[in-house]
This record gives sequence, structure tokens and C-alpha cells, in this order.
Amino acid sequence: HEELTKVKNVNKIQFGKYILETWYFSPLPREIWKAGDDVIDQLYMCEFALNFYKTKAELERHQKKNTMRHPPGDEIYRNGDLSVFEVDGEKSKIWCQNLCYLAKMFLDHKYLYYDVDPFFFYVVCECDSQGFHIVGYFSKEKESANGYNLACILTLPQHQRKGYGKFIINFSYALSKIEKKHGSPEKPLSDLGRVSYESFWARRPNPEDRMISIEELADATAFTLVDIKATLDRLQILQYNQGQHYINANPKIIDYHLQKCGGEGIPVDPSKIHWTPHL
Ligand code: COA
Ligand code: NA
Repeated sequence: HEELTKVKNVNKIQFGKYILETWYFSPLPREIWKAGDDVIDQLYMCEFALNFYKTKAELERHQKKNTMRHPPGDEIYRNGDLSVFEVDGEKSKIWCQNLCYLAKMFLDHKYLYYDVDPFFFYVVCECDSQGFHIVGYFSKEKESANGYNLACILTLPQHQRKGYGKFIINFSYALSKIEKKHGSPEKPLSDLGRVSYESFWARRPNPEDRMISIEELADATAFTLVDIKATLDRLQILQYNQGQHYINANPKIIDYHLQKCGGEGIPVDPSKIHWTPHL
């Protein structure tokens, strides 16, 4: 894909109170990216409306009239100051496209869909007196032929390594549980995506899991059988005997793996999800 080889076209972007150094090329909307521009040193984005501006003055002009203080769409989760909004790509097209352009600045390999109609965007926000500040999101196909429960995941750089990635992954499985489906993230995963998923999956086996089948574990977690088997294989605690897979792990081995896969992340309280499947 041509985009992969393109060099970075924006160095920095102001987003709320942060100035973010971008990581990768992003095919910005045409109004911003006019032929003749070389590299934009700093772009300005309204963290609520997600409009891009080339100058601080333009951003400030916008902010004087803009009253939007949260993502468009329904708030489907609130726990303390943490909320998740479900945004329909078809109903809030420009907003979702701009979110994708922002995400692309931190994603290299992945083919990003700017045709946002077939997706829902689950946007994680931290709320304070100023409004709902985006910390990350995941997108999800409205209907996935491949059983994917997550297309794209992003934690904005200023919020990485605080457990939001695991929160988002956890949330994607919480929705799958409500749908009574097993799900898996769209492939390929980026390196950061893979370590996050692997450390998330690896946290699950616990001593009580010794007695349950892989199928029961899949129903309990909404992980696919494939992902469970690959994880257990990787941890070398999967055993196959007389046609049955089972987990062979003593608590010491499980403790060892838990040490290696980091914190549990910000927890999801499933009782605070207010959502029903769309189909
Ligand atoms: N180096 C090593 N391990 C890392 C890591 C890094 N830079 N980033 C995450 N991990 C691993 C760690 O095990 C971490 O747990 P720990 O912090 O308790 O040790 C775990 O992954 C998840 O950390 P968490 O804080 O929950 O994730 P995050 O909020 O930093 O988000 C991503 C993870 C992948 C969403 C984030 O890195 C991101 O948005 N990357 C850019 C976009 C991208 O690549 N998305 C995936 C496309 S498939
Ligand atoms: Na963390």
C-alpha cells in the first residue's frame, strides 16, 4: 500500500492541553493538505469537535463558538470520571474520519478505513469540569464476517502505559459477552497491539481454570478458541490428552506469567455498561 512508504507529513499536533509528536504519515483531509505543502510543523485540533486547523488563531476562533464538550453519540458507560461513547460512523461521518486521521498519525502498517459508515467507534473519555477528553478508542465493524470484535485500537500517546489499552480490550470483550459471541481483533496487529493483547490474554489463566475446558473458558471470556489455544501454547501450559485440551499449570507457573504480563489495566465494571446489540 502506497501510504506505508510515505514520509511523515505533520511533525506535531496540539490536542487539548497536549502537544503530541506524531509517529507516522496521515492522509489528512484535503482542506488541510493542499498540494504544495511540504511538511506541516504543527497542526491544531479541537479535542471535542475534532476539526483540524493550521493556525492557533483559527482554532481559537472555532473554540469561541464551539459548545460541543463530548463525542457525538450515546454514552454507554460511565464509571467515576471514565466514560465510553458509542459513535456511529454513518451518523457522524466527518467526526469519525477525523478520528481516523488522528489515529493514523500513530499507526503505521494498518490499512485504516476512511469509509467509516460500516463502523461504530467506542471512544474512551476522561471527564473533568472542561468536558470529556478523549484518551483512546476502538472501532468495530457493525457486522463482521470474520468474527472480529475490534478493528482498530488506539490510546493517545500522552495516556499510554496507564492501563487504558487493557481497558479498551476488556471493553471489546465485554460487548462480545453481551452479544453472546466469541471475538478477536482484526489482523494484522501492530507490535504494540500484539504485546497488549498477548499480555491481556495471558493474564486470564488462573489456578481455577485447571478444571475447565477450553470451550468453557471461551464462553467465560468471549475469547476465541484459536486465541485461547495460541495463548496457552505460548505460555506452554496447554496439554492435549486423549482428545481433550486442558490447562496444566501449577500456581507457581501462573504467578510467573502474571509477573511478566504487567498490570491488570483499568478495570471495566460490566454492570455499568448500558448497551444492547444492534442486530
Ligand atoms: N513497550 C512494552 N510493552 C508495552 C508497551 C511498550 N511501549 N506498550 C504496551 N505494552 C504492553 C505491556 O505489557 C502493557 O502492560 P503494562 O503497562 O502493565 O506493562 C500492555 O501492553 C498494555 O498496556 P496498556 O497501558 O493497557 O496499553 P496502552 O494504553 O499503552 O495501549 C496500544 C496499547 C496498543 C493501544 C497503544 O500502544 C497504541 O495506541 N499504539 C499505537 C496504535 C496501535 O499500534 N494500535 C494497535 C493496532 S493493531
Ligand atoms: Na499499564
